[in-house]
Amino acid sequence: MRSDPLRYLADELDSLRQQGLYRQLRVLDGEQKAHASFDHRSVVNLSSNNYLGLTTHPALRERALDATRAFGVGSGSVRPIAGTLSLHMELERKLAEFKQTEATVVFQSGFAANAGTVSAILGKDDFIVSDELNHASIIDGARLSRATIKVFPHRDARAARAIVAALPRDRRTVIITDGVFSMDGDIGALPELCDVADEFGCIMMVDDAHASGVFGRNGRGTVDHFGLHGRVDVQVGTLSKAIGVLGGYVAGSKALIEFLYHRARPFLFSTSHPPAVPAACLAAIHVLETEPQLIERLWDNTRFFKGGLQALGFNTGVSESPITPVIVGDATRAVRLSDELFQAGVFAQAIGFPTVARDKARVRTIVTATHTPDDLQFALDCFGRVGRALGVI
Ligand SMILES: Cc1ncc(COP(=O)(O)O)c(C=O)c1O
Repeated sequence: MRSDPLRYLADELDSLRQQGLYRQLRVLDGEQKAHASFDHRSVVNLSSNNYLGLTTHPALRERALDATRAFGVGSGSVRPIAGTLSLHMELERKLAEFKQTEATVVFQSGFAANAGTVSAILGKDDFIVSDELNHASIIDGARLSRATIKVFPHRDARAARAIVAALPRDRRTVIITDGVFSMDGDIGALPELCDVADEFGCIMMVDDAHASGVFGRNGRGTVDHFGLHGRVDVQVGTLSKAIGVLGGYVAGSKALIEFLYHRARPFLFSTSHPPAVPAACLAAIHVLETEPQLIERLWDNTRFFKGGLQALGFNTGVSESPITPVIVGDATRAVRLSDELFQAGVFAQAIGFPTVARDKARVRTIVTATHTPDDLQFALDCFGRVGRALGVI
């Protein structure tokens, strides 16, 4: 009989179990909402990126259904062959207007947007100067580009400057930061990094996945939040989080976008979104423009919940956004806290290595605009009770 050549994978999984890092997937039984059913248990959901509650917004649902009726369920091709629908073009025009850039290109996901862009615009003779906590998709794009990766300590623009100053001037350099860091909820050193980019003629890039729909006027992101229009060459956003649907996009100059149409590999080699996706995204941007109260409510809820966790004595790190980590340290303890919260009726996922450093395991919370004060108070009560029982506070 043939021996299993993948046997080592089972061994790896056993090792994860022993380290307390093995996770069962929680399965959502219904809609992705502030109150949701996971594994057939009704919980206050603090684990989604559905910041504005748009996953179930009636306007998005209707536009998606209309588009499905009118155009069918699939696009049938990659964008450069036969898979560019009028809806894709309409969404790209709308996003460019919203972001106040010349053009945008939409990718299948934020991951594809980052990885596809970094790998397309840089080559092996170039340099990438990257915050140490930047998202995995930036790192993968950097590796694919074969450019030399230089990492600077988190948010340390002076260290970034020192790195850039020592690089050869005749090579291309891109400085990259997340707009909002997904595991700590703090904001990238964007204004200071823009200064470095200006001083040394670098390309400036920001990954605004968690800032899209959250920061800036009507959710235009960190470039708008900091008033840096015209100083960031490559802005990546996601349509999968606050926008409530799926996809990622790059906003920038017409030349950048046309180049990505020709060279970004996810754009060239992977089928485009089905009609329902751009249609729902268009409806979402309309909601951002016409229902600013959603973003206000998101921030009210953020202040209430973050303040409540801090008053209970939890270590919430350095968060400045609706992402509030409850840092526990040990991975087994973080998993235990998450599991017991779940039994109590609150879903807040534990995050461990390799997503965060080994000694920085945490339970990550994200409030949304659609949580009620009762939901949040209930969650705080559960956090207090379970946190005390486990000796976390
Ligand atoms: C900072 C950051 N960038 C990019 C992405 C990828 O976005 P998407 O989920 O649309 O692929 C994520 C999502 O996990 C993220 O947190």
